[in-house]
Amino acid sequence: MAARTVIELDSVRKAYGDGTVAVEELSFAVREHEVLALVGPSGCGKSTTLRMVNRLVEPTSGRILLNGEDVTTADPVALRRRIGYVIQNVGLFPHRTVEANISTVPALLGWDRKRTRARVSELLDLVGLPAATYAKRYPHELSGGERQRIGVARALATDPPVLLMDEPFGAVDPEFRRHLQTEFAQIQAETGTTVILVTHDIDEAARLGDRIAVLSRGGRLEQVASPLAVLAHPASDRVRDFIGDGSASRMLALAQVQANDLESADRIVQPAPAPVRLGARLTDAFEAVAALPGSAMGRVPVVGESGSIFGSLTADGILGALRRAADAAAADPGAAIAQDAREDATEDAVQDEPGREPAV
Ligand SMILES: Nc1ncnc2c1ncn2[C@@H]1O[C@H](COP(=O)(O)OP(=O)(O)OP(=O)(O)O)[C@@H](O)[C@H]1O
Ligand SMILES: [Mg+2]
Repeated sequence: MAARTVIELDSVRKAYGDGTVAVEELSFAVREHEVLALVGPSGCGKSTTLRMVNRLVEPTSGRILLNGEDVTTADPVALRRRIGYVIQNVGLFPHRTVEANISTVPALLGWDRKRTRARVSELLDLVGLPAATYAKRYPHELSGGERQRIGVARALATDPPVLLMDEPFGAVDPEFRRHLQTEFAQIQAETGTTVILVTHDIDEAARLGDRIAVLSRGGRLEQVASPLAVLAHPASDRVRDFIGDGSASRMLALAQVQANDLESADRIVQPAPAPVRLGARLTDAFEAVAALPGSAMGRVPVVGESGSIFGSLTADGILGALRRAADAAAADPGAAIAQDAREDATEDAVQDEPGREPAV
């Protein structure tokens, strides 16, 4: 079943008043329930693109459709209630407490105090800033990374069906960023939110994106494909430059051990090493094989859900698995939607009105 298109850009161009062409001629589609990671060098038009989707910036020409409806003719306020927006550099209301900032949209929707407070508390826990300490603080009483986490909490407050995130974790330290990424991936999988995630970080894009769209200067679309396809088969030198080194290890983290990568279990040397699970990331399988004594010849047992042994995996098997994953990605570069079962998305949820936000 082909996924429905939720956001579509059709030959969009944006020239700012001073003549700067931020986006030249951009077309892509975002499918329902997917996370599209939008990456590219600084100044290539990522923020401009996001801001055009919720009409903080008007395109010079071209069309942007949300659920088939042209956003340029939609009421901007109603539009922004349907679209959550995490702003680059946060943009919290400076004269409102953390609690009031997160409650912005719930208040607009007339949620009662009890429900709002419970949701604020839940979101603060989620981003690792307990309400008892943080709810009554003002933005200037937070660190940059903490402000950013509040920005994420605010955008998630009412589970919007569409979420635009502009470098949402950029100011958060690497360790906590990973934690937030994991939390975010979990929420997204549960709620089925359709997301455009802007990031400079190719690892973040590969981890969170169902597909990655790589832009170059002038908002030119270089490639849009699954993370594996982008890593294994960059469509241009610009994509290659953007990705930089380390594609193989990133691919190991994305691809999984499958039954046809295995050999017979007969030749496992006893006592058998700790097993790897079928479906494990190749990174984990690689570490298990590399840790074996005399690892060039070594093999680890591979087990299924029930713990029964399926076969054994060698370093050769891992290389084969990596090639298979790269070939499959080349054959079907858009194959991406991870969770088909994300059907319970809350379509009636609404979201923030970032257009009213002061610059901070
Ligand atoms: N209001 C504006 N007026 C004129 N030019 C602008 C305006 N806003 C952005 N630009 C220019 O448009 C281009 C794209 O900017 P944009 O903010 O979309 O880039 P970006 O990809 O988000 O960059 P970064 O990764 O640094 O956030 C840049 O050259 C920028 O200087
Ligand atoms: Mg930007």
